[in-house]
Amino acid sequence: MNSDSARSEDAITELILTAKAKAYEETDHEPEPNLTTAVDWPVECSVGPGLEGAIACESKIGYVNGSKGWLIYRGYDIFDLCARSSFEEVSYLLLHGALPTADELAAFRTALYARLFIPETQRLLLSFPVQDMNPMAALRLGTNLMRQKQTYRDRRELDAFGAPIASDEDSIAMETVPHGERRPVYEFAPGAADRGPSPEPSTLVASEEIASCYNLIAGVSSVAATIGRVRAGRLPLEPIPELGLAGNYLYMLTGRRPSPMEERVMDVCLILHADHGMNASTFASMVVASTLSDIYLAIGSGISALAGPLHGGANVEVIKTLDEIGSADRVVDWYKKASENKRKIMGFGHRVYKAYDPRARILGPLAELLASQSETVRPLYETAAALEREVVSTLGAEKKIFPNVDFYSGLVYQSMGIPAELYTTIFAVSRVSGWCARVVEYLENNRIFRPRAIYTGSFGENYVPVEDR
Ligand code: COA
Repeated sequence: MNSDSARSEDAITELILTAKAKAYEETDHEPEPNLTTAVDWPVECSVGPGLEGAIACESKIGYVNGSKGWLIYRGYDIFDLCARSSFEEVSYLLLHGALPTADELAAFRTALYARLFIPETQRLLLSFPVQDMNPMAALRLGTNLMRQKQTYRDRRELDAFGAPIASDEDSIAMETVPHGERRPVYEFAPGAADRGPSPEPSTLVASEEIASCYNLIAGVSSVAATIGRVRAGRLPLEPIPELGLAGNYLYMLTGRRPSPMEERVMDVCLILHADHGMNASTFASMVVASTLSDIYLAIGSGISALAGPLHGGANVEVIKTLDEIGSADRVVDWYKKASENKRKIMGFGHRVYKAYDPRARILGPLAELLASQSETVRPLYETAAALEREVVSTLGAEKKIFPNVDFYSGLVYQSMGIPAELYTTIFAVSRVSGWCARVVEYLENNRIFRPRAIYTGSFGENYVPVEDR
């Protein structure tokens, strides 16, 4: 790494630690009193619409304190994880319950790298009109196709033939060397057959279920990158061994080896989206898993729930809003009209946070740093910052509405040249590790989810035959 990139990475760590100091200064970070260690079911709680306040399960995975603005994964503060950790380490922590040793981390990275190779799933996916599909619908499809193809096993079958994938007409073309051309490249780099994954570390993957989680954590990023490539008129790329998951996602999407700075930025983004309590997509995954359906189908449900504009889809809507506003000097007028029309401002508000979202505390300054280096993103950032000032000065005081995780993430991705329609798929690339961890934890003491509705309809209606109505 040259000294420039080391400096840029240091700048990111510095920025996160500064955000942490500000958060600690503004909110109370004393350890939570009365920590719950065991629960006597049934528990009493008051439930509002949208299951607000309802308690669905016990969990040791993550904790969100909305009034203080805390986000904790397995006891570790999100600021510390973003400053010092990697997405692989955080995924291991969420799934296995403790930070890995150096050997465990190396084995986990190897296992994930192996699972980035999903040629059979890509082949199936490319038989659908991916370029015309909603990217989240395509991601769900690809994830469910992985179920048919159990990614790692596919790879091993291919190994038996001695080549990663053939370029005959029965195969999908794989662009193993990016040529920078908008057309299929049916050739393989010399030695491509040797670049395959190393053998599975046997101590790590204790069950079929954990193997499926590994398939999903790696595979969703390969599918997401494939979707981005196909939408750009390109072909899927194989991962490269020198890069981690964040770097390989960027590489497989763009065909360009990311700079250390870009890799680090993506890593931070993946860390801070990885888990967030009983959010709608996590709950959706858990509901499906609780029927003992299948973890691939469960994660597919998480992807579906995440797609909505009230959840992960908000990051795409934010960019549309900023485009609609046009420039920082138009924010005041635009916001006045939006408030008069009782319009919800995308990227603001949260069911749980009634303080500044700690993820936005990191993403805001990150977006500012990246925007300062990009002529195209700078005006958008300035518009976003002006909008934040307007919203916080009114709704912040009145209703405790602040920017959420989705407000600045799109600007960060935009600064890396990623098209807006892919932003929610990046959220999924990260959240899949939280979904998997929560599903696995819940299944240890599974009980099918089955809440009630309060019937407010009528009784005693007389059935009238259709011809008499
Ligand atoms: N812009 C303007 N007003 C907002 C708002 C926003 N983004 N989010 C919430 N409010 C207002 C509501 O209008 C409501 O006002 P009222 O009490 O006068 O009726 C109040 O704040 C409570 O909002 P409510 O919609 O009941 O909160 P919720 O917990 O049901 O919904 C969200 C939470 C996240 C769905 C909601 O804040 C929202 O739609 N935000 C925009 C979408 C978004 O960014 N989603 C990503 C979440 S990470």
